[in-house]
Amino acid sequence: MALEERPVGKLGRAVIFLGPPGSGKGTQAKVLAKKYGVPHLSTGDMLREHVAGGTMLGLKAKPIMERGELVPDSLVLKIVRERIERPDCSVGFVFDGFPRTVAQAQYLGELLRQHGFRPPLVIHMIISQALLIRRLTGRRTCSVGGEIYNIYDRPPKVEGICDNDGGELIQRPDDREEVIRARLVAYEKQTSPLVDYYRRRGHLYEIDASKSVAEVEQEIALAVESTRAAR
Ligand code: AP5
Repeated sequence: MALEERPVGKLGRAVIFLGPPGSGKGTQAKVLAKKYGVPHLSTGDMLREHVAGGTMLGLKAKPIMERGELVPDSLVLKIVRERIERPDCSVGFVFDGFPRTVAQAQYLGELLRQHGFRPPLVIHMIISQALLIRRLTGRRTCSVGGEIYNIYDRPPKVEGICDNDGGELIQRPDDREEVIRARLVAYEKQTSPLVDYYRRRGHLYEIDASKSVAEVEQEIALAVESTRAAR
């Protein structure tokens, strides 16, 4: 679909959440995607689905994810390409945890061009490492609907139970402290170069992710609105 033909009033582009593990990418990406009625695409969730389903891809990804390392680009790019070519992505989409390497970013840039999208808007979530550990060790996720809680800062009304659908709240296996450290190292080494990559292209919007969920949400809404008309 050509750029001019995309529906007005919709997101109409790719928004990327870029930031370390626990910076709040998933929490905010879900809100933004719901607000604009576009898909929330978390490569972490997609990979966990493959692991749970015991697919070939899941079998390859499982030990890598358990160590807190990045899954090879070749596996991730395949599932991303397949996903964004579905019709529900034609009015835009929100990436959470992708791209994570310069090679992934280059591939995505090409894919977006091929599909007539303008360059992505990148929301860079900035936060201190001390806060990340607290957020990740305290995170609990609904096993049914995926709602994200935190036992310290965003507890459910009833311990261990999702407020929305009564689902059981579970802790992710990679949220143990030793795996968290490995994930932070992987971020610094392989993903943080993307900050400069996108800054040089003028697509980066910096957000103070240490603020409350509501405050961060407001900053992101302003960033998206202020750049929505720009091409
Ligand atoms: P993935 O699932 O993407 O995990 P991640 O990037 O490590 O990020 P998280 O989901 O841990 O954190 P988040 O920033 O989404 O924070 P959240 O909103 O949950 O990846 C997992 C693994 O999959 C990787 O290690 C890798 O192996 C593989 N993988 C995935 N994508 C890949 C790719 N593209 N290439 C290669 N490998 C890939 O919030 C965290 C907690 O903080 C929650 O409890 C939440 O309630 C709380 N919180 C959030 N915001 C706030 C706030 N403002 N104030 C207080 N608390 C808050």
